[in-house]
Amino acid sequence: MEPIKFNPQSRVFTLRTCSTMYQMQIERYDTLVHLYYGADLGDTEVVHRIVNLDRGFSGNPYEAEDDRRFSLDVLPQEYTAEGNGDYRIQGIEIRHTDGSNCLQLKYCSHQILPGKYRLPGLPSLFTTQESDAATLEILLKDEPSGVEVKLLYGVFPQCDVITRAVEITNHGTSRIALKKAMSLELDFPKRSMDLIHFYGRHNMERQTERRPITHGIQSIESKRGMSSHHHNPAVLICDRRTTEDYGDCYGIVFVYSGNFECQVELDQAEQTRLVMGIHPSNFSFRLNSGESFTTPEAVMTWSGKGLEQISHHFHDAFRNHLIRSSYVNRHRPVLVNNWEATYFQFDEKKLYGIAKAAKEIGIELFVLDDGWFGKRDDDISGLGDWYVNEKKIHGGLPALVQKIHDLGMKFGIWIEPEMISEDSDLYRLHPDWCLKVPGRNPMTSRGQLNLDVSRKEVRDYVMEQIFQVLDSCHVEYVKWDVNRAVGNVFSQSLPEDRQGEVLHRHMLGVYDMMEQLITRYPDLLLETCAGGGGRFDAGMLYYSPQIWCSDNTDAIDRLEIQYGTSFIYPISTMGAHVSVCPNHQTGRTTAMNTRAVVAMSGTFGYELDLEHMTKEEKEIASNLITQFKEIEPMIQNGDYYRITAPGDENNAVIWSFVSKDKTNVLVCGVVLRKYPNPPITLLHLRGLDPQKKYKETLTGQIYTGAVLMYAGIPLPLPSMDYESLQYRFEETDEI
Ligand code: GLA
Repeated sequence: MEPIKFNPQSRVFTLRTCSTMYQMQIERYDTLVHLYYGADLGDTEVVHRIVNLDRGFSGNPYEAEDDRRFSLDVLPQEYTAEGNGDYRIQGIEIRHTDGSNCLQLKYCSHQILPGKYRLPGLPSLFTTQESDAATLEILLKDEPSGVEVKLLYGVFPQCDVITRAVEITNHGTSRIALKKAMSLELDFPKRSMDLIHFYGRHNMERQTERRPITHGIQSIESKRGMSSHHHNPAVLICDRRTTEDYGDCYGIVFVYSGNFECQVELDQAEQTRLVMGIHPSNFSFRLNSGESFTTPEAVMTWSGKGLEQISHHFHDAFRNHLIRSSYVNRHRPVLVNNWEATYFQFDEKKLYGIAKAAKEIGIELFVLDDGWFGKRDDDISGLGDWYVNEKKIHGGLPALVQKIHDLGMKFGIWIEPEMISEDSDLYRLHPDWCLKVPGRNPMTSRGQLNLDVSRKEVRDYVMEQIFQVLDSCHVEYVKWDVNRAVGNVFSQSLPEDRQGEVLHRHMLGVYDMMEQLITRYPDLLLETCAGGGGRFDAGMLYYSPQIWCSDNTDAIDRLEIQYGTSFIYPISTMGAHVSVCPNHQTGRTTAMNTRAVVAMSGTFGYELDLEHMTKEEKEIASNLITQFKEIEPMIQNGDYYRITAPGDENNAVIWSFVSKDKTNVLVCGVVLRKYPNPPITLLHLRGLDPQKKYKETLTGQIYTGAVLMYAGIPLPLPSMDYESLQYRFEETDEI
């Protein structure tokens, strides 16, 4: 099967993956029309899908002369421009020097290339062998202005995803302003569809919402300079009847961590258009003659078998082609983090005490969180001063780290390199290094300001400070945090007509800093974080194999947060810890087992004062670590199934992992309430081989895959609220 084909007779492009097909055609007047995305149809070209009608008040290109049936306003297309008779949401808008915004994009040429295109300075899917993917470049041109738009498609047959990006080049003689440059545009023919998206807030990220796509425009977006707690840059579009394991659906993920907009519009002809890209708000990029702009990447996939297959495609694509860290499928050291144990109040004795207690129960990595540097006794000072606070850590960091290494543990540290406190030596030295609008008081948040990391000298200075710390003691893990949204968007280094570039340049600056870090320390385990899960996105996964999922460590709230996150992101990317009870965010008390079962479907670690644990609790905590190590390969590499959903009728949130060869199954979950005289819930597993026999490891009970999937097994009756379960099944020959 050729992943990319062009038929010169029909002028049809066909992109194929193992189970999907994507088709477009160069239509009349060199218009690039979208024909189809869905199940693989073999060699068929579905050119008959386009029906042209004369629609009143929808104009026609000049070349169409009397043909009033050819109108860009209703035609499904690949990438559309403003000012050209298509009044729907669009991919690109520019402003010429004469003030006009018209762009008539016509097919010009194309190239089919082996391997995957790259996007310099931006995160994007990669190949390990050229044969993993193929690239299609289609060049569109606006003849009068000389503006060229190159559409990039990366086809990954094995994981059924197609990536998209766009490169815009000004080949004209005068400069242009790029006002909007979406990464992906996707047209769907008439059908009733739903939009699923992941909204939230700090401490309650990625809640799942499903709503019908109705007439007009719906928008999911972030203007916060980070992908945000409030909306995630990923959506699913599906038929009304689509469920976890039935029906047609599409997934679209933006590989970017800054401002984004995803708009969905149902038009006059009941067709749906979706665009995804950098948010056009406060965005304007100047392109002088000869200059180019490259958009970030978007990834799309299709499933004909429900939502779980969308998750499998994304999980496989991200594990194999996005996460570069060698930790992606390697054991992640079980860690203890001192944040919830001490907050800012600690000294080296306290830290060592926690580390020692951690070692005794089998914890492998000690992470020193916020408060170790500058004058950082609270959250309003010290950011930018990346040298150790010896009033807290007497004797310095290398001595403490040495003691921790001597315990046989690894050492990790927290940093927040994109920020500056007004109360810091760095601010006193370089007050112009933050984002701040001249003549106005800045908006503060958590008492801090954004460093202007669009400036190279600022990035290099901060990274140099951090490198000195990391070099002074062998650091094996870094938690890279960001604790405010970007605001006061103005860079002292750019002229007036380039201020619309600041937000994107800022994001590119963050990526550059992260690249510097992982290049200098290739074996480092990097966990990214943004006040919990405020920057949980595919862009970050290019740099870090794990992201702190939420500052909310309550196991029951985490069920919802991790459920929403699982639609798009691999389970092994979710930072999750066992914390103390009553929980610091919710005041809720749950059993240690429950907290652990939830945290094990993530990176697993502890975040509490281990010195205050009873002997009995320590023993449980230690056994849980052993348990985690046994199941970790399933969590990292297995296929993930959402068996029940938060808020459904089952009174339980259950999920499972099935190994790729279907020989091992792990079922996890929490039964929410203990009801007296309860109804019996049958648990129907999915993804097993119906013919295979599976033995439950604890009881020795044997079932066929068919029984576990179609007849189901009763959920255990809990003895109290929030009781967890964890079953393992292994293939067996026994009768
Ligand atoms: C953020 C993180 C927390 C912790 C604090 C420290 O909120 O999400 O885990 O590191 O910052 O200030």
